[in-house]
Amino acid sequence: MTTSFPDGFTWGTATAAHQVEGNTTNNDWWDWEHRPDTVCAEPAGDACDQYHRYEADIALLAALGFDNYRFSLEWSRIEPEEGHISVAALDHYRRVCAACLAHGVTPVVTYHHFTTPRWAAAAGGWGDPAIVDRFARYCEVATEHLGDLIGRACTINEPNIVAFMGFVMGLFPPGATDLAQFEVAAEHFSLAHTRAVEAIRNVEPSLPCGITMAMADYQADPPDDPAAVRNRDDALRLMEDRFLERLEGDDFVGVQTYSRHRFGPDGMLGAEPGVEEVPHMGYEFWPEALEATIRHAAATTGLPVLVTENGLCTDDDARRVEYVRRALEGVLRCCDDGIEVRGYTYWSLLDNFEWAFGYAPRFGIVEVDRSTQRRTVKPSGEWLGRVAQANALVD
Ligand code: NOJ
Repeated sequence: MTTSFPDGFTWGTATAAHQVEGNTTNNDWWDWEHRPDTVCAEPAGDACDQYHRYEADIALLAALGFDNYRFSLEWSRIEPEEGHISVAALDHYRRVCAACLAHGVTPVVTYHHFTTPRWAAAAGGWGDPAIVDRFARYCEVATEHLGDLIGRACTINEPNIVAFMGFVMGLFPPGATDLAQFEVAAEHFSLAHTRAVEAIRNVEPSLPCGITMAMADYQADPPDDPAAVRNRDDALRLMEDRFLERLEGDDFVGVQTYSRHRFGPDGMLGAEPGVEEVPHMGYEFWPEALEATIRHAAATTGLPVLVTENGLCTDDDARRVEYVRRALEGVLRCCDDGIEVRGYTYWSLLDNFEWAFGYAPRFGIVEVDRSTQRRTVKPSGEWLGRVAQANALVD
């Protein structure tokens, strides 16, 4: 098998506004983190202060060898109250895009990465059909201001996780635990994505658009047990396929994966004995999930695949290299089989705010000392930068 990736394969690393910018006080997550009745470990606070340090972060990732940076726009900064657009916030993101381009880095921009403005959440959030228009209108305004500088547009990040964690598990805002509400929110997310693509293309017809999906390697154990297979397929339909089947006409599908889910005849199974568990996250060290999810996304959608997130939470950086190396071997096997995989994005550039878990989980290829905001590149960052520059799996 070749160790080279196809010509034009793009290499990126990702962050999201609420996780790195600091003081994104006007969204539903900020409110959620500060409520005494939620499970959040700690608030995001200053995060990595990237709102002020974006230039140095972009210079750093460019120097490492990455050619794109996936970051998100904070809707609550751009539209702090319904219909009130902050040109100053849009200008900020214009400067971020311009800094990327000045460093030879393509901006890959996510319009919604988990956070919703407080006003929209208070007006019913993703449970209210009005969110579809509200989101499309914001996408249009943001694209009018930034579209000429954006290289790829990701509409909504992991709508399946936001809907599941927020409406079934009660772990994300709004904290509901009701499958019927999940169904409603999931439908609004799908509709909002379709409308967002239309809105973005109305402004910038040639801007490639897609959604980024949380995916896992769904397995039945035993593999041929009919009840295990049924449980696996039901879960896959609920969490992934219902979204994937509605992406016709998009330019790419964003695959994001970290591990696998196992299903037995009686339901979901835990970690397999003997398989290493990822600290903090409660799932298995399973880099082979990337190959499985790329194959599933490509087969279900017929679209080119962009790996928009993949990575490992660990304090042992050598395990991170091992995880990414094995994941990339899976990407190469997909390419060998003729599947169109356009790029790989490591989550995350920085150690950052891991939602309800707070700052303890560390996914970054760059360490952040949050008392000084000093950045230190980890060996995995140097290695992955060399892989990116070589466009090949180097040692
Ligand atoms: C998915 C999300 O998009 C991102 O915000 C999160 O930090 C990573 N995966 C790691 O869990």
